[in-house]
Amino acid sequence: LGRIALVACGTSWHAALVAKRWFEEIAGVPTEVDIASEFRYRNPIMGGDTLCIVISQSGETADTLEGLRRARASFVNALGFVNVEDSTIGRESDDAIPLLAGPEIGVASTKAYLAQLTNLYLFAVQLARAKHRLSETDAAGCIQGLRALPSALAACLERRDLAFDIAQRYASASNFIFLGRGYNVPTAMEAALKLKEISYIHATAYPAGEFKHGPIALIDPQTPTVALIPNDSTFSRMASNIEEIRARKGRIIAVTTDSAPNVEALSDSILRVPDIAEPLLPLLLIVPLQLFAYRIAVLRGCEVDMPRNLAKSVTVE
Ligand code: AGP
Repeated sequence: LGRIALVACGTSWHAALVAKRWFEEIAGVPTEVDIASEFRYRNPIMGGDTLCIVISQSGETADTLEGLRRARASFVNALGFVNVEDSTIGRESDDAIPLLAGPEIGVASTKAYLAQLTNLYLFAVQLARAKHRLSETDAAGCIQGLRALPSALAACLERRDLAFDIAQRYASASNFIFLGRGYNVPTAMEAALKLKEISYIHATAYPAGEFKHGPIALIDPQTPTVALIPNDSTFSRMASNIEEIRARKGRIIAVTTDSAPNVEALSDSILRVPDIAEPLLPLLLIVPLQLFAYRIAVLRGCEVDMPRNLAKSVTVE
């Protein structure tokens, strides 16, 4: 295996963005990520050593399905990560990994996203073992890290009242900004998507280092910024991005980990999750932000499970 091409839409695409880092950093496999509706109309360079991975909760998304067909027509092996195993993508893939999240009813994908990430992480670790990039002991360490997840997720749910209180404070805002670095960039994008989908509030997500190249002009006291600042390798750079926003009178909702120091001094509101290994942060930091979006949607009287203009699976182009 020389290369991986990841293809997906929406939330599944955000899972692909996280997986790219895992595949490259853990397994050492060069990986590209495409939005399916772009992939199917460009001429991707895919040789016999490429594996195309398509990710889809429903297994019926038209653009993702066409991306899969495109890859197979180029004699590239295709692996599907699907929640609905008996779906078109599940059937047409050379192999399919079932996500086993159980039926997802709400239009906004939440539990399927966590299941996608979990399965993609396991795949990255297995790939690294097969390529002898990870020793058995290190691979076992990665799996052990994952075992910390259920109790950490339970802690996030136990702390939901805090996310709900903060949602109450910001429910009338018309625009939100979400920032993160490294592993937390896709989380910022996914959190912004959740808020847009179910509360109809405009939200934009950026890699924090890119923010000063234009979008920082948006900052004013009415536009809150959700800053992902866990105690990881991005901490000090995120802290200086936050200072830049505060200097322009922007309000900060910090989403951080228990051990992160002095975040109170940097923020107006704070949400904490338990500490976990940096590569696993995407599985945890999204949860308080799902709860935040949910509560804002409820407070604004929105139909959370069936937002306007959206369908659970997009089977047309
Ligand atoms: C997620 O909250 C969305 N409703 C949407 O972006 C979804 O993830 C996208 O349409 C892809 O769906 P799929 O995973 O079923 O292919």
